[in-house]
Amino acid sequence: KERTFICIKPDAVQRGLIGKVVERFEQRGYKLVAMKMLKAAKPHLEIHYEELQGKPFFKDLVNYMSSGPVVAMVWEGLDVVKQARQMLGATNPLNSMPGTIRGDFSIQTGRNIIHGSDSLSSAEREIAHWFKPEELCEWNSATTTWVYE
Ligand code: GTP
Ligand code: MG
Repeated sequence: KERTFICIKPDAVQRGLIGKVVERFEQRGYKLVAMKMLKAAKPHLEIHYEELQGKPFFKDLVNYMSSGPVVAMVWEGLDVVKQARQMLGATNPLNSMPGTIRGDFSIQTGRNIIHGSDSLSSAEREIAHWFKPEELCEWNSATTTWVYE
């Protein structure tokens, strides 16, 4: 049961897009196993984006991500890490295909509305960084046998 970390960024919260983003993952058939709204602290975000420390946009990125509440989520299902990245679209929304979340709802890289883990190992690290084990909800979706053969 593969899991990925998805974060609805402050711009999407402000723009009233939480429901639209959640809907994309629900309608695909993925299972939500954790979700919370929070204002992320800068040190927390600096660790989350530690691979980008030293990039010229790092400070702007941390300011952006701490500018308001985010919605942190864990989604579960077959190949969800890679599939979620495809559903998100390219980092720069100008390169995101229509039909992707960024391609349908955003224009600039610095306001690209959503984060998704880029690998299995990032997903594990990010889920542990944002959630306590007891915040992950084990449940059986009644639709499982209709989503998977
Ligand atoms: P995330 O899912 O948020 O991790 O995006 P990503 O994996 O598609 O891109 P990456 O991890 O390289 O960058 C993380 C985030 O930093 C991006 O989603 C953008 O919000 C921001 N970012 C990346 N590159 C730039 C840039 O060149 N300029 C600005 N302003 N922000 C950037
Ligand atoms: Mg990334």
